[in-house]
Amino acid sequence: MEVVIVPDAKAGGELIAEAMAALLRRKPDALLGVATGSTPLPVYEALAAKVRGGAVDVSRARVCQLDEYVGLPADHPESYRSVVLRQVVEPLGLTAESFMGPDGNTADVQAACEAYDRALAEAGGVDLQLLGIGTDGHIGFNEPCSSLASRTRLKTLTHQTRVDNARFFDGDIEQVPHHVITQGIGTILEARHLVLLATGEGKAEAVARSVEGPVSAFVPASALQLHPHATVVVDEAAASEL
Ligand code: GLP
Repeated sequence: MEVVIVPDAKAGGELIAEAMAALLRRKPDALLGVATGSTPLPVYEALAAKVRGGAVDVSRARVCQLDEYVGLPADHPESYRSVVLRQVVEPLGLTAESFMGPDGNTADVQAACEAYDRALAEAGGVDLQLLGIGTDGHIGFNEPCSSLASRTRLKTLTHQTRVDNARFFDGDIEQVPHHVITQGIGTILEARHLVLLATGEGKAEAVARSVEGPVSAFVPASALQLHPHATVVVDEAAASEL
């Protein structure tokens, strides 16, 4: 695992956007796995700026989701499908056809999970998966105690994650779904390159436990230690407990 400490979130965004651009220059139809949350926004902004400036052509790029809420209509503004369309697909000038995600609004969630794992494999696998990290060390929506070999599946959010995410639902925890579909840790580990971005002091403990602690299902992000090509990009605040 490679750990890169950058001065701030903007520098982290720029570094990862450049890694994505380099991948797309090598492989124009690369499949980029994207994450939601506030942390990755500087990455998407920096990549969109490169596209506008002509530094990289992303017209053949493909984008896929990491996770999704269960039970929100697909066009709900906070469904992760809507978030990724708004924050990544549209600013890059891509169309919805170049984008895939699990169906969180179906009666048969199990079938939707299996279909998504199959779709990722049939698409040739994820070339670069961008990850954030929860304050409890979760990646995607793999909460602590998720099996390190897990596949895409239904999960129940912890109270803390619902509290953390209430800010996207007018601060009202009652509006935050209880259930989600997430790529499993085993699924995530199949991506060719994992890039985790963490910024701010609030992530410092989770980062230290993931990078320097033992590999453990109690800290899902520690699974990155098992991957042959994992890069952890942290700002100085998030690195403060390393
Ligand atoms: C959610 C997402 C994760 C993300 C996490 C942290 O739980 N499912 O993919 O990493 O939030 O979000 P933030 O970056 O806003 O702290």
